[in-house]
Amino acid sequence: MAMSAGLQGEAPSDGVSSGTASLLEVRHLSVTYTRRLARNDGQTRESRHAVRDVNFDVPRRETLGLVGESGSGKTSVGLAILNLIAAAGSVRFDGQEILGLHGATMRQLRTRMQMVFQDPTASLDPRMTVRRIVRMPIKAHRIATGTGIDDLVAEVLNKVSLDTAVMSRYPHQLSGGQRQRVAIARALATAPDFIVCDEITSSLDVSVQAQVVNLLMDLQADLGLTLLFISHNLGIVRQVSGLIAVMYYGRVVELGQSEQIYANSLHPYTKALLEAVPSPDPALETRPTRAYLRADATTAGLHKVWSGGCVYQDRCPFTTDLCRRVEPELGASAAGHSVACHRVDEIRTGTAECTEGDS
Ligand SMILES: Nc1ncnc2c1ncn2[C@@H]1O[C@H](COP(=O)(O)OP(=O)(O)OP(=O)(O)O)[C@@H](O)[C@H]1O
Ligand SMILES: [Mg+2]
Repeated sequence: MAMSAGLQGEAPSDGVSSGTASLLEVRHLSVTYTRRLARNDGQTRESRHAVRDVNFDVPRRETLGLVGESGSGKTSVGLAILNLIAAAGSVRFDGQEILGLHGATMRQLRTRMQMVFQDPTASLDPRMTVRRIVRMPIKAHRIATGTGIDDLVAEVLNKVSLDTAVMSRYPHQLSGGQRQRVAIARALATAPDFIVCDEITSSLDVSVQAQVVNLLMDLQADLGLTLLFISHNLGIVRQVSGLIAVMYYGRVVELGQSEQIYANSLHPYTKALLEAVPSPDPALETRPTRAYLRADATTAGLHKVWSGGCVYQDRCPFTTDLCRRVEPELGASAAGHSVACHRVDEIRTGTAECTEGDS
């Protein structure tokens, strides 16, 4: 995968554009969901941050992998940067602010930004043939007219290596892999520059996952696509992404080039995630040491309401009073590598002492 621009030195912390190298510039992005409560103490609404003050860039023609466990806010980031849900902060696409944008300008930009979802069975209308599914965005955005529409449908199906014979079929008549190819073809129909791929392989068999990942990488090279590749599977993210952002409980806790994250990760959460990835070579596989996860860790930390300090404090074996009181900022650790951890220097030098068991 081409790695032309890399990160912009360090995680951006202000709202200033970092130049034209990045197609997407995300600053202080926050998403809050509010739900109604049926309570008799007068409080009828509860708000919760799903994403809080997230900052990253995606350079043109590159892939940023967004990893983190279920509920960490990955999909919310994807939806927010496409302006599909309400969000605060700033998202600049090709230099243009898109948060809050609507009407004709947003409609026009929609052709350049697409999303492919996890489960094609849910994202493809079962009552429509493949031909109708792929025609929809072409007609809605007036990309082609008359016989040009079906020519374009055939062209994008060809790009995802599907025979045009599938045009007359319904989604249930296709395999899982073919359905996901149709979903990718539909996204390609508007000739986008940028695609959010949200867990696009997780509903597929392992052998088919590899085919879809290879297809995506070929398409990226051929069409010059910029991708946000969301997955909880670090193994797949590594294959696809030049850059990786690790999310925990709505925050990006580590951001860097793929090799930096794999060879030199520094955040205890990233290290715990990496320990859980099975090695492709069983002979080299080591037993997870769980050195970066408290022995009593549960996922409970993800579900409670954040009340200050580091988001990883309940699961981190190195938590100190400072971690409980002050939230660490995402700060530069090396060129293009940023970490949000108070104890990053000790972790780098291997001198961080475990505080597990301390009160
Ligand atoms: N529509 C919604 N209304 C209320 N809360 C929501 C909504 N969508 C997501 N959430 C909550 O926001 C948080 C982040 O959810 P999100 O779906 O973005 O996480 P995710 O990392 O994509 O998880 P997964 O890996 O399971 O897809 C979770 O706590 C989730 O329960
Ligand atoms: Mg999700």
